[in-house]
Amino acid sequence: MKKIKIVLQLLGLAIFTLYSFNAVTQDEWVVPEEYKTMKNPTNANDGENKAIGKSLYNKHCKSCHGKEGFGDGPKADEQEGDLGDFSSAEFQVQTDGELFYKVTKGRDDMPKFEKKVSSDEDRWLIVNYMRTLEE
Ligand code: HEC
Repeated sequence: MKKIKIVLQLLGLAIFTLYSFNAVTQDEWVVPEEYKTMKNPTNANDGENKAIGKSLYNKHCKSCHGKEGFGDGPKADEQEGDLGDFSSAEFQVQTDGELFYKVTKGRDDMPKFEKKVSSDEDRWLIVNYMRTLEE
């Protein structure tokens, strides 16, 4: 009986340690190398492309990230994790490929858009739109 108790205590400690570790490292979102260096195949200056990127952003992203990407959309308060600020230099230093990866794969409360916006090209156009939010 005593042994079982010790095993359970150790298990509890292990779970707690893993949980805290996860909370501390949550901010670091590791993007695989092959995505980081991926080349954006779209033309960001094309008028029609711009319009598509904007309308996709408004439809799928604005509710959480806000109209200007400040992370202040109507659903922002319900989200766990840092929504980031798309207008900031800190956000904009990321490569197109990194942003493409995050939008495609998601993480926790950030949905993955692999299926919802199933065309790769459309997700690149959203990346282009996020670039226009820089201040
Ligand atoms: C339901 C709310 C929600 C929606 C809708 C949403 N996001 Fe997010 N997003 C989040 C949350 C929460 C995070 C933080 C995730 C984390 O760090 O674990 C995030 C993080 C991100 C990041 C990483 C931020 C950084 O600082 O690197 C990017 C890029 C992003 N979202 C883009 C988008 C795009 C583009 C869309 C639309 C196609 C979108 N998001 C839709 C909730 C949302």
